[in-house]
Amino acid sequence: MRSPSTIGHLLSGPSGIQELMDDLGEALTTHPNMRMLGGGQPAAIPEVQALWREQMQAMVADGGALDRALLNYDPPGGNPHFREAFAAFLQRECDWEVRHENIAVLPSSQNACFLLFNLLAGDANNGQKRILFPLVPEYIGYANQGLSAGMLKGIPALIEETAPHEFKYRVDFDRLEITPDIAAIAVSCPTNPTGNVLTQEEFARLRDLAREHGIPFIVDNAYGHPFPGVIHNGFHPQWEPGMIFSISMSKVGLPGVRTAMIVADKETVKALGNMNAIVSLANGNVGQALMAPLLKDDTLLRVSREVIRPFYKERSEFAVGVLREALGDKVPWALHKQEGAFFLWLWLKDLPITAKELYQRLKAREVLVIPGHYFFFGLDEPWQHQHECLRLTFSQRPEIVKEGLQIIAEEVIKAWQE
Ligand SMILES: Cc1ncc(COP(=O)(O)O)c(C=O)c1O
Repeated sequence: MRSPSTIGHLLSGPSGIQELMDDLGEALTTHPNMRMLGGGQPAAIPEVQALWREQMQAMVADGGALDRALLNYDPPGGNPHFREAFAAFLQRECDWEVRHENIAVLPSSQNACFLLFNLLAGDANNGQKRILFPLVPEYIGYANQGLSAGMLKGIPALIEETAPHEFKYRVDFDRLEITPDIAAIAVSCPTNPTGNVLTQEEFARLRDLAREHGIPFIVDNAYGHPFPGVIHNGFHPQWEPGMIFSISMSKVGLPGVRTAMIVADKETVKALGNMNAIVSLANGNVGQALMAPLLKDDTLLRVSREVIRPFYKERSEFAVGVLREALGDKVPWALHKQEGAFFLWLWLKDLPITAKELYQRLKAREVLVIPGHYFFFGLDEPWQHQHECLRLTFSQRPEIVKEGLQIIAEEVIKAWQE
């Protein structure tokens, strides 16, 4: 290609998320012995896999349901029956005052965020509008989604020590200024990569700030409420008009169906459907067909509460135990408080090498992690902290996680001894 357009350049150039997905894909296919402590895919939980297999078998047995799902192009904002059923589910189970016109179905929450950020921000008649991320580090997948340079603005988190070898990121409200260029405030909650959950007070202050300035507060619930519900402190955000919530099917065991739901005011829902028509024509139907029967009762919430959340909690506690034992007090280290999601976020304060170098050394020892710097975007100034963190997944089999964490500890201690 001779010279791509500005947008072509932004989208086709190298990006953190593309490097990450390439690296994970290559490791999965060509390095069978790689210990995968890197990716964000959900764990294989037998009860959850059985649930989706049963749903698929019922759809195939019905015949007509399968034919409809495979044959039809649905409207670009989602299947009308599914939107009705999903709104009824949210009313009944979450007490949210929503109707079908508040629900947009889109091909994944990755896609939904891309459409949403570019709907709200970018070049406008009155100058450039931006999306404000009040708690960076934030999800790597947002970092390259702006179709104009500088469209995403991040505020570095405050670091609060919560226990020996444990810390929590807090919103730095003193630095959070809602200037006229800010089009929306956005967070993932629980946060990928850190597992942070906003406190009730932080959530309320961000919501009130957004309300005061007449801009949306976007909450990406990929790991949270209402499903898969991997939140350990009971935090259940309440949707209200003016807010935009994203709920993905992925982390409840269905990343392969590429489907997510946006809950928003009806104007935003209509705009997203229109955008989806241009970009994708329509959504995949299979995810909606698989999930629809489960929206009639509380199966999804029950499975989330009784199976998925305890599974990740147990895995997380196991991984923390292994790391504590392996690192002891030999080097400075701390983990972000485990409040939700599928990750450990390890801070190696004053690490003598960068997290990127550590990642290379670990890869050579067949342990794949994600170096932290990818999750720091939109900042005005460089921050040394970004070179001192790693994101680790504990979704793999415990023996793999244990081996991987022990190798990480060995390499970290070695780096300090050089
Ligand atoms: C916070 C967050 N949002 C969105 C996504 C993307 O999810 P989906 O599979 O629905 O595109 C992820 C995936 O890891 C995520 O961690």
